[in-house]
Amino acid sequence: MRHLLSAADLSRDEAVHVLDTSAQMAATQAREIKKLPTLRGRTVVNLFFEDSTRTRISFETAAKRLSADVINFSAKGSSVSKGESLKDTALTLQAMGADAVVVRHQASGAPHTLAHAGWTHGAVVNAGDGTHQHPTQALLDAYTLRRHLVGDGGRSDVTGRDLAGVHVAVVGDVLHSRVARSNVQLLHTLGARVTLVAPPTLVPVGVHAWPAQVSYDLDATLAQQPDAVMMLRVQRERMSSAGGGFFPSAVEYTRGYGLDARRLRLLPDHAVVLHPGPMNRGLEISADAADSPRAVIVEQVANGVAVRMAVLYLLLAGDGRTTNDEARATP
Ligand code: CP
Repeated sequence: MRHLLSAADLSRDEAVHVLDTSAQMAATQAREIKKLPTLRGRTVVNLFFEDSTRTRISFETAAKRLSADVINFSAKGSSVSKGESLKDTALTLQAMGADAVVVRHQASGAPHTLAHAGWTHGAVVNAGDGTHQHPTQALLDAYTLRRHLVGDGGRSDVTGRDLAGVHVAVVGDVLHSRVARSNVQLLHTLGARVTLVAPPTLVPVGVHAWPAQVSYDLDATLAQQPDAVMMLRVQRERMSSAGGGFFPSAVEYTRGYGLDARRLRLLPDHAVVLHPGPMNRGLEISADAADSPRAVIVEQVANGVAVRMAVLYLLLAGDGRTTNDEARATP
């Protein structure tokens, strides 16, 4: 693995290898080995052109726990506000010696350009680009699902190291969601079955070519007893002001597609609820659903650190061909 730009970059074995390495990273943290020397002398640049709380902080934490030097760049307060381009920003950071560039950008494809235009010699990690991809979110979601649903953690009939046999309902604003796109690809790669649930106005053109079923009826999907429900944030900031909002009002959206206590009761006992955050409480998810024992939303954030440690480790300290046995021995 030279860069991580898209969930589609990962084969089933590579994805499982990242998840296994994440488990090893989590184990070191659980043993209170807070800092590993693995990336000492390496520099990780967090290049954020779009707002973030979870992703930015967890990449910073992950890099520091691997002993890397970290440079945090935020477009706000930088020369981007004077019109400096992505290219010149990247060249400036490269001049300071970046071994890895973690980039979030409002334009779909910006991380690909950064990786392939020669503006940085470092590994590029996509931390979310436009409506396109957010691969480390999909990896931390898969890691969380595996912990809860596979082997001793969940359904006794689902074993192994991938998610074969698991049914995940991904619910909400699929149209604007890079999390949905990355998750559909990665969950499919890992053998899970995905049902996308959304109002027709928030389903992308071409969705029927995705490896997922599409439903417009949340209650009917919950009646199928999915193993997990992944709620998506309604991304009002990406919606056109033309028409004044989205389908057809917030109240109707919540009635048709919001997860609440009544809908939680439709789920099987082992089912878990995920949300990538930030949540619109009271819109796509009620407070009692978000705070219920089924919700693993805070755990997703904690798992994000282990997964991002694994990704940085595999990109910077592994050679991309590292075998599982070698990786197991390393942290
Ligand atoms: N899930 C996620 O990407 O959250 P942030 O926007 O806070 O990073």
